[in-house]
Amino acid sequence: MRAFNFAAGPAALPLEVLEQARDELTDWRGSGMSVMEISHRSKAFLAVAHEAEADLRELLSIPADYKVLFMQGGATGQFAAIPMNLAQPDSRVDYVNTGSWSNKALGEARHYCKVHVAADAADSNYTRVPPLSAWQLTPGAAYLHYTPNETIGGVEFPFVPQVEAPLVADMSSNILSRPIDVSRFGLIYAGAQKNIGPAGLCVVIVRDDLLGRARHGTPKVWDFKAMADEGSMLNTPPTFAWYFAGLVFKWLKQQGGLAAMEQRNRAKAELLYRCIDASGFYRNPVDPACRSWMNVPFVLAAPALDKSFLAEAGEAGLTNLAGHRSVGGMRASLYNAVSLEAVTALTEFMREFARRHG
Ligand SMILES: Cc1ncc(COP(=O)(O)O)c(C=O)c1O
Repeated sequence: MRAFNFAAGPAALPLEVLEQARDELTDWRGSGMSVMEISHRSKAFLAVAHEAEADLRELLSIPADYKVLFMQGGATGQFAAIPMNLAQPDSRVDYVNTGSWSNKALGEARHYCKVHVAADAADSNYTRVPPLSAWQLTPGAAYLHYTPNETIGGVEFPFVPQVEAPLVADMSSNILSRPIDVSRFGLIYAGAQKNIGPAGLCVVIVRDDLLGRARHGTPKVWDFKAMADEGSMLNTPPTFAWYFAGLVFKWLKQQGGLAAMEQRNRAKAELLYRCIDASGFYRNPVDPACRSWMNVPFVLAAPALDKSFLAEAGEAGLTNLAGHRSVGGMRASLYNAVSLEAVTALTEFMREFARRHG
């Protein structure tokens, strides 16, 4: 029996994809080997790698003047790689701070260049996105970094900022959840373990004119141009994660692509927020204009009930609902592989729990 898994990452993966990977695990395409046991430079694996990239390009309509890199080191690695590649030690860069992840990204960047916080939502306890009109942008900034979806706080930008500097976005927790216009961005990056596949892979989509600017001393595996020149195979890539991501991209295409995911994700999020708002028992603190479709934090009427909520939810097959250790409460992550059926089961359980404990 499969659990209804609301984990924030590593997170639920599509059952059909897991089954396919299981079926071909020991004998991949008649080779007598698993895909993990063959050279990343073999013709067979290169075909997998190229197909995954082509499918991702199709899903996101990635323009031809962008490279797609399949890297390691997670999104956290990119917190350093981005300033190393796009800024010099004396460059000024803008960061928008809307929560734990943007805060971590800007903290890491401070080791590499001059960070200016152009907008800061800390004063609202990270429950909103400061309006673009209030941002204090640095003229000539090497780039502007923001986190379109804060996985812990559950704050999602309802707009793509229009700024002069190249726009850099950490889409770890909302990539592929709906269509985006890639041409608005200089660089997009995303750790795989939410909407893409298994952990161990980080996808970077970078505009060609931003390549070849890495500062002296940048490790080769972190140099975007060196990686692009080698087709992300400067060293051994995480082959299984790359293969699996390719299967997820095919699954997304079969589901109807990102327009279909958008409809589904909107419906799932609306269902859960409606349940929270109508309850008088649960509460989500985020400005309704910036509520995340992917990560929905909520608290109960009394924190003393948290333990029973989690225990009873677990008994009902609803798992991984505890909030991030830094904030407590609950959090339901509703990534692409989480079905409407799972969210419906969650809301039914929540109503029933509130009735008994309210
Ligand atoms: C928005 C965001 N950025 C960065 C990270 C860090 O990713 P990683 O653990 O792959 O380094 C996470 C992890 O959950 C995240 O949600």
